[in-house]
Amino acid sequence: MIEFINVSKRFDNGVLGLNNVNLKVEDGEFVAIIGLSGAGKSTLLRSVNRLNDITEGDIKINGVSITNASAREVRQMRRNIGMVFQQFNLVKKNTVQKNVLTGRLGYYNWFQTLLGLFSKEDYERTENALERVNLSDKLKVRSSSLSGGQQQRVSIARTIVQEAEIILADEPVASLDPITSHTVMGDFKKLNEEMNRTILINIHSIDLARQYASRIVGMRAGEIVFDGPTHEATDERLSEIYGASIFDDQE
Ligand SMILES: Nc1ncnc2c1ncn2[C@@H]1O[C@H](COP(=O)(O)OP(=O)(O)OP(=O)(O)O)[C@@H](O)[C@H]1O
Ligand SMILES: [Mg+2]
Repeated sequence: MIEFINVSKRFDNGVLGLNNVNLKVEDGEFVAIIGLSGAGKSTLLRSVNRLNDITEGDIKINGVSITNASAREVRQMRRNIGMVFQQFNLVKKNTVQKNVLTGRLGYYNWFQTLLGLFSKEDYERTENALERVNLSDKLKVRSSSLSGGQQQRVSIARTIVQEAEIILADEPVASLDPITSHTVMGDFKKLNEEMNRTILINIHSIDLARQYASRIVGMRAGEIVFDGPTHEATDERLSEIYGASIFDDQE
């Protein structure tokens, strides 16, 4: 479970990225976070695993405060939180296999990491994860030779081997064409339904949010201005909150 309690984030330049956010995400939910550019979606997501620190309030993961955790505890907690980015964040010159294996690094010490000593189980985990995202044939291929959609699915496979219960995805389909976007969103849905992963995804497309998520959180100026099950996020309701501009740019 992820819990935001009266969370605010003021950046060094004075901008209020989050303004008194209260949010509770239960295990196994699939939550889409929507809102116009600058609304605070990335700030919210990055606060969950402390990629950015908050300035007020508390964030708890399974009842444990990550806000007050030591560096060592944060490292432990991050094992349980996978992250997927718009730009995939793979090491392009490395094979798909190696990129997926790095999802296991949180389980090794620096010395093992240095030597690249992965266990037989981890090689098996890697193959199984690639099977789940339909990329078994790419195991030994250099990541730079993959399409954008395939690279994103490799980064999803990386979170699978990480065995993280929570997956954060910041605009994971923003660089992909519409058809590939559906494949990738389908992979998130599979992780959610078949592996009971909790998914938090920032997304510009309202249509994709409504098709795949079970709950929609709407942000504006650092605040949560909508929070409800997908069927309540109707065009009428969203345009009341945002005006028509929220539907611009939709496929
Ligand atoms: N490192 C930073 N320093 C100062 N201000 C920042 C920083 N990061 C974000 N902000 C500001 O905080 C606000 C929220 O930004 P954030 O990136 O969370 O928005 P977003 O909803 O993810 O937007 P987008 O849809 O464009 O990705 C914006 O006003 C932004 O300019
Ligand atoms: Mg963003």
